[in-house]
Amino acid sequence: MPENILIAIAWPYANAEIHVGNITGSHLPGDIVARYHRLKGNRVLMVSGTDSHGTPVTIRADAENLPVEAVYKKFHASFLEVFQGYGITYDLFTSTHTANHFRVSQSIFLALKENGFLFTQKSMQWFSPAAGKFLPDRYVEGTCYLCGYEGARSDQCDKCGNVLEPEKLLNPRSKVDGSTPELRETEHFYIDLSKLEPRVVEFLKERSDHMRETVLGESLGKITAEGLKPRPITRDLDWGIPVPVEGWDGKCLYVWFEAVIGYLSAAIEWSSISGGEWKDWWSNPAARQYYFIGKDNIFFHTSLWPAELMGVGQQFAEIFSGEPGVSLTLPHDVPANQFMNLQGQKISGSRNWAVWGRDALTRYDPDAIRYYLTVNMPENKDSDWDWDDFVARNNGELVATWGNLANRVLSFSFKQWEGHAPTIDPANLREADRALLAAIEAGFASVGGLLEAVKLRDALREAFHLATEVNRYLDANAPWTAIKTDRDSAALTIFTALKAIDSLKVLFAPFLPFTSARLHGFFGYTSPLFGEQFTQEIPDALGTHTGLRYRPASETWWRPSDFQPGALLNPPAPLFKKLDEKVAEEEMARLGKV
Ligand code: MF3
Ligand code: ZN
Repeated sequence: MPENILIAIAWPYANAEIHVGNITGSHLPGDIVARYHRLKGNRVLMVSGTDSHGTPVTIRADAENLPVEAVYKKFHASFLEVFQGYGITYDLFTSTHTANHFRVSQSIFLALKENGFLFTQKSMQWFSPAAGKFLPDRYVEGTCYLCGYEGARSDQCDKCGNVLEPEKLLNPRSKVDGSTPELRETEHFYIDLSKLEPRVVEFLKERSDHMRETVLGESLGKITAEGLKPRPITRDLDWGIPVPVEGWDGKCLYVWFEAVIGYLSAAIEWSSISGGEWKDWWSNPAARQYYFIGKDNIFFHTSLWPAELMGVGQQFAEIFSGEPGVSLTLPHDVPANQFMNLQGQKISGSRNWAVWGRDALTRYDPDAIRYYLTVNMPENKDSDWDWDDFVARNNGELVATWGNLANRVLSFSFKQWEGHAPTIDPANLREADRALLAAIEAGFASVGGLLEAVKLRDALREAFHLATEVNRYLDANAPWTAIKTDRDSAALTIFTALKAIDSLKVLFAPFLPFTSARLHGFFGYTSPLFGEQFTQEIPDALGTHTGLRYRPASETWWRPSDFQPGALLNPPAPLFKKLDEKVAEEEMARLGKV
């Protein structure tokens, strides 16, 4: 029975380009797991979109003196290109600035309100008389009341590292125009997380057998120590989703409150454009949901989002489907990653200390980058992008172990057997041939098991280890010399190696989809390994937007090769490029130049 797998990936803010840290942090691991499940024949829905609201985006728009709308559209368009370039196969990559997302977010808000999980409370907030509006916390700077640092943000001090109570800031000034703000009373909606705390704790405990330690520490550990407190979920802002309550004009839903709802609203939008059924992933207790995010997003995905889903109860399903008794499906796992640094330093867009996704693709193939980002994925601790290491691993591992293996066996067969695999009788396969094929066959369970458990580095290492086994087998059987004296023996060896490589192609496919698809073609298959990515114009009441889409392949391939003796091959070519040693130096020279 195919399973329904939701792959939910953190929505990037529309305020900066995508860099390798973002790719390895969430988009790539999500894509690897999605591709694996599709290859296995499971029903995958992989969604995300541009996080177009919130102060990160408005600050960028202010800095560039552009309308916010223009800024989010510019980054959205760029994201779509980067994801296509790296083969990040979203079933739908949309945006939070759609009428569909507004409607779903407002429904969730109202359901929570109806169910008694929201309350209102008055507080003091910095107001700019010059601009005639309230200022978001990060728009107000001044002197830290704890350490005296003069450049503190009202909600946090970068000098002493403390989270601040905004209204206590000394000598406040507006970041927008330098004018002096004053404290004024405002009113906001709060979600009463303390009411939902016992259920969130139970939810996390139920999943503690498979959730990462780092994630449990940041969620269950923190809740046990500090409890869950009510959080304000509205803001005095004009860019965002209006609070759907009379008399609340000029206020919007807090960006995190609504962005996480995107996982659900995107599924609904996907249904309406593809004819699919979002409920198979969203009101189905058997569906498994995986959330791929960075460590700074853990609270929102392990506590706030589940609390929203629990608090909605059966209200939402009734609104959208009329089926009573159905609740929304809760996350199965939140395999958050740590951060990737660059040459030992924190990645920083403003200092141009970054490897940009788009730029890197102009010089390197996507699979070469995907490979390096997977072997270095910050699954349990921060990792580092190092250009010398990138070149060394590309040349010493990807090219030397896997690329050369595939290329030399295919080329040899193509040449010696005139464009075919050797014709042999499988009954004649020797002990060593069978042993190799059995070892590779076992890889489908071992690599698959690691992928299911979202241990992607280990999964790739296991596939790589199997490639090494094939190299060892070839060294022992030396078909290149045997061909001169014992053509039958060389034929058995080459056929066995071809079959092993054909299987390895599938084991590597989630990680290295472009080269696996090419290899699939060299082996003569006509039915594709993967489906196709495409963009689609999606009409919406807030304006037509472009979505990234994916059409799955019709056949599924996660099984040992049944490649046949004498099969027709296509002319092979090298899969990977060896990189010049100079590359690392050139790349280092590019870093940090603004
Ligand atoms: N935009 C946030 C960030 O870049 C991530 C939002 S994830 C979501 O850190 F679930 F809230 F959408
Ligand atoms: Zn301070």
